[in-house]
Amino acid sequence: MAQTFSRGPVTGTAVKTAAKRKPFVLDLYGTAVGKKYVMAITGIIGIGFVVTHMIGNLKMYLGVVTEGDERIYDIDVYGEFLRELLVPILPFGYTLWLLRFVLIAAVALHIHAAAGLTKMNHEARAVKYQSDRDYRVANFASRTMRWTGTIVALFIVWHLADLTWGFVNPDFQQGSVYRNIDQSLSRVPVALLYIVANLALGIHLFHGVWSLFQSMGWNNPRFNAWRRNLAIGVAAIVVAGNVSFPIATMLGIIDYDPTAVTEPVELDS
Ligand code: HEM
Repeated sequence: MAQTFSRGPVTGTAVKTAAKRKPFVLDLYGTAVGKKYVMAITGIIGIGFVVTHMIGNLKMYLGVVTEGDERIYDIDVYGEFLRELLVPILPFGYTLWLLRFVLIAAVALHIHAAAGLTKMNHEARAVKYQSDRDYRVANFASRTMRWTGTIVALFIVWHLADLTWGFVNPDFQQGSVYRNIDQSLSRVPVALLYIVANLALGIHLFHGVWSLFQSMGWNNPRFNAWRRNLAIGVAAIVVAGNVSFPIATMLGIIDYDPTAVTEPVELDS
């Protein structure tokens, strides 16, 4: 009688039983390529946020506007506008919370994927680089990203405590955005902190925009010059805008004037 043999999998073949198989997305995230995709996509969300946030903050230079009988700083109107987005389709404040949720998830995934990739890189490189120069060249970008990324993350925590929650901002007033910024950035050490953090953000953005094309596989050498210019452009625009705010406050160009508005909030000092 003919015998039937069932052959096992080829050695090294990734075979999983149906019960053990993870969903495709999680399986992909387990690989270096998957983590790089996640870094690139969450990075694009972050870039979108910092660019629009900077452009929105330029409203500080528009000073006071008249709305009916009311005189109000334009940046304060903008703060209210963000809370009113998509009202009445969604209740007041919901859209902003939805956007915040996407942003928080993107930042958390970006950091998680970065930590995972760093761990994988350390495990993969059992044999050290043979020359010090190779080591420096290969690691300059990734070490820079880790440092600048950490500075930006710490800055965001300070920044929220300063301008959103207000507990590191003297006499913080909810909704008085222009005045809160003036109060905060009039302090020299805080203005310097904003400048240093935004320079770190600029370096992070430059390397990030450059390498996200690589991660997504959009890296035809013909586009290298274009990619480089885009990376420089995005970083330069965000840094120039953001660094201008502490400088303009120190120079008195951004200067809260309670007599200019209908409902003034008295200054602390
Ligand atoms: C000098 C530059 C900056 C200024 C003047 C500024 C100003 C502000 C202000 C006034 C708020 C509070 C808005 C409100 O509650 O109505 C805010 C929120 C925020 N900022 Fe900035 N910002 C700057 C740079 C940055 C940078 C570089 C980042 C990120 C890397 C950032 C991330 C955030 C985040 C995540 C929030 C919370 C948004 C929310 O909860 O709605 N900001 N910023």
